[in-house]
Amino acid sequence: MIHGLNVTANFAISGDGKISSSDHRPSGWTSEHDHARLIELRKNADAIIVGKGTLQSDHMSLTVQQSARQPLRCVVSRRGNLHGDEKIFSTPGGPIHLLCTESIDHRWEGCAMHEGSLEKFLRTLHHDHHVNHVHCEGGGVLMRELLEIDCVNLLYLTWAAHTLFGGENAPTILGNHVNVFPATRHFALIDHSASPDSGEIFLTYSRQS
Ligand SMILES: NC(=O)c1ccc[n+]([C@@H]2O[C@H](COP(=O)([O-])OP(=O)(O)OC[C@H]3O[C@@H](n4cnc5c(N)ncnc54)[C@H](OP(=O)(O)O)[C@@H]3O)[C@@H](O)[C@H]2O)c1
Repeated sequence: MIHGLNVTANFAISGDGKISSSDHRPSGWTSEHDHARLIELRKNADAIIVGKGTLQSDHMSLTVQQSARQPLRCVVSRRGNLHGDEKIFSTPGGPIHLLCTESIDHRWEGCAMHEGSLEKFLRTLHHDHHVNHVHCEGGGVLMRELLEIDCVNLLYLTWAAHTLFGGENAPTILGNHVNVFPATRHFALIDHSASPDSGEIFLTYSRQS
């Protein structure tokens, strides 16, 4: 955990534990209820963080509609090699921060550029940008590292067992690594509710040490 920093994450998972299909189908396979929860969770965050894959496949702007308070919009990549036409660049919203964990191959206008580890970046957000709550909206590659550095306090899951994706290349919340995860992480269920109309269950888990 990073002292003083609340890190949360939100994912919808299929009946076979996947967050997307093997060809990385964009989000939109869940319900309006799930979307409403996503927006609600976004409202409480000082910063939203996503991996480059999710930013691009889900065409994300990372904004909170009809709100004067906009979270920082944070994107993680190894070298920052975006296309430049991502929706985030053409949509007004919170300041954009791009973390490059290996090297900065290109400096994007209107984007605060950071180089270094994910953990260092989170500490910088907390200490230099007054961020007390970072909310992760995927994908699995980013979530795996957040769990490896063990900084996730709360995990929001939508159990959407009405859909099965199949395929070993379809990612889970840990991406689709074949490598063994370094240590088991335990979470305790602290809240749940069902939406019979959508066939989904909304779960909230808290990290147990
Ligand atoms: N069901 C859900 O709730 C949910 C939520 C989010 C996303 N998704 C789905 O997941 C799929 C996208 O996920 P994804 O597998 O592409 O994962 P991702 O984590 O969104 O993106 C992976 C890319 O982001 C960068 N990245 C992420 N973590 C990094 C780290 N710790 N260090 C350095 N770079 C990092 C890398 O970009 P570079 O290649 O530039 O280095 C990597 O190739 C889409 O289909 C999306 O719809 C589903």
